[in-house]
Amino acid sequence: MTRQTQYNLGEQIAPFKKLAPILQFLSVRRSSLATNLESPGPSQQELEHMLTIAARVPDHRRLSPFRFIIIEGERRNALGKSCLEIARKNNPNMPEAMQTLEQTRFMRAPTVVVVAYSPKNDGKTPEWEQTLACGASCYNLLLAAKASGFGAQWITEWLTYDSNVALELGLLGHERIAGFIYIGTNKEPLKERARPDISALTTYL
Ligand SMILES: Cc1cc2nc3c(=O)[nH]c(=O)nc-3n(C[C@H](O)[C@H](O)[C@H](O)COP(=O)(O)O)c2cc1C
Repeated sequence: MTRQTQYNLGEQIAPFKKLAPILQFLSVRRSSLATNLESPGPSQQELEHMLTIAARVPDHRRLSPFRFIIIEGERRNALGKSCLEIARKNNPNMPEAMQTLEQTRFMRAPTVVVVAYSPKNDGKTPEWEQTLACGASCYNLLLAAKASGFGAQWITEWLTYDSNVALELGLLGHERIAGFIYIGTNKEPLKERARPDISALTTYL
């Protein structure tokens, strides 16, 4: 097998030079707060395009160690009810306000994408590398949502670490939640936050 067929190399990708608008976009990219999101969310076509971009990440041995679970419409409320039940079992004395928050958690945005980490055991590819590819997928989804004109936030919260929530979402035993990507329209313009000092993070050897 030649290297060409092994990687199913297809058409040549048109080369490009510097893409100033993309550098500008990345330079000012900012997450929204889920509470700052409202309808409309992405159309089916826009969402599918975002997911296609989310799957287009560096991925050693092309294992796609991630999959996407979409929560929209009435399903957001139904899932909120289930998560409230789980939260109540974890904490039977939950105050009323907290219960409301649990019930309405997914209503914060019109579209919530659960990125499920779904590692593959090919006997060769370290799980760590698959974890990194899954993180890249979450970030690409954020970027695609932003570039499509929406606000988006990557959230984990307690749900990510609860095995009953994972069951409720239909995750398999070896899978886990990488994050909930909330996507919608920004209610208010975003404000900058403090950014790291790059010189403090960088060493030249
Ligand atoms: C894996 C991961 C989990 C996160 N979970 C939460 C969360 O549960 N709640 C929250 O407010 N922000 C969470 N964040 C942070 C936000 O997604 C976001 O990065 C933060 O608000 C800073 O915004 P920025 O993207 O504009 O730098 C998480 C980020 C990552 C990478």
